[in-house]
Amino acid sequence: IVLSSLGLLLLGLALAQNDVQNVTVFDTSSPINREVSQLFWITMGFAALIFTVVFGALIYSIVKFRARGDEKGEPPQFHGNDRLEILWTLIPLGIVAVLFALTAKTLFAIGTPPEEGIEVQVTGYQFWWDFYYPEYDVRTSNELIIPVGRAVKFEVTSKDVIHSFWAPNLGGKIDAIPGVTTRTWFQAEEPGIYYGQCAELCGASHANMRFRVIAVPEEEFENFMRAARAYKAPEPVSPREERGQQIFAQSCASCHRVQGTAAQGTLGPDLSYFGNRTTLGAGVWPNKPEYLKPWIMNSTDVKPGSEMPAFPQLTEEDVEALVAYLDSLRLEGFDFSELPKR
Ligand code: CUA
Repeated sequence: IVLSSLGLLLLGLALAQNDVQNVTVFDTSSPINREVSQLFWITMGFAALIFTVVFGALIYSIVKFRARGDEKGEPPQFHGNDRLEILWTLIPLGIVAVLFALTAKTLFAIGTPPEEGIEVQVTGYQFWWDFYYPEYDVRTSNELIIPVGRAVKFEVTSKDVIHSFWAPNLGGKIDAIPGVTTRTWFQAEEPGIYYGQCAELCGASHANMRFRVIAVPEEEFENFMRAARAYKAPEPVSPREERGQQIFAQSCASCHRVQGTAAQGTLGPDLSYFGNRTTLGAGVWPNKPEYLKPWIMNSTDVKPGSEMPAFPQLTEEDVEALVAYLDSLRLEGFDFSELPKR
């Protein structure tokens, strides 16, 4: 008991450390989580009731029927009690039937998106996420932009191993399986940046396979989609950006795509409008030069198992040029970094 209490205490402290965002599945501002929370509390209620009845009877019996004085030998034995046996079969059966019905209803609700939702195709890769909006022909990586108050329907798959798509405060936690499409949906009711995480052990950087859900008012979402669809990478405005563009074309373009340029690689995340991203490395660090530089030079140093090769031939200046170029890839007028973290 002492050891497990200590374990729980340590776990509690570890969770309390996570003060960056209030990551919780009990966030009832999401319709799916409301369903799941209700089911959880009903199940918890039954469990508490059973616990009380069973332990109550147990403690009562221990006290009431304990050996007293010089009582010796076995107490009187009895066998069978039809009424009691029928009762303790029917009551649990009833509880299980109720829980089954409620669980089936919740699972059905999670698996059945409302018709009018927008569609997003989610693809998991070791160790990042690709989001494609077929109705808009827009692609983003590791940051999923969604409109507040509208259902978003997900078709989830994987390009390599099994991952799991999960934004705890909104919903999800659906497996991303290669060759299979799984479906779910969720809806954000408040604007903000929500935390997302791969929830299926998938390799060295499973814990670093994160993403963000950026929920914005519907009008801003539509504007973003329109601008993203029409996006063409701007021409470099300084010698440094121009140098960055050249290095990108030589070293990065075979794996990464930048819309409106010759860079059309699909092995790594799409880097169109990278400057608008709030995070990098699949949601692990803030999108700032001091994090981007070590990431470009040797990504496996900071993220084990990253597929991006190291670039030892790049000088400090080269890397700074690349950072300047990537930062210039922006959709003007969209700054998500000030949104509240949820
Ligand atoms: Cu992908 Cu864990």
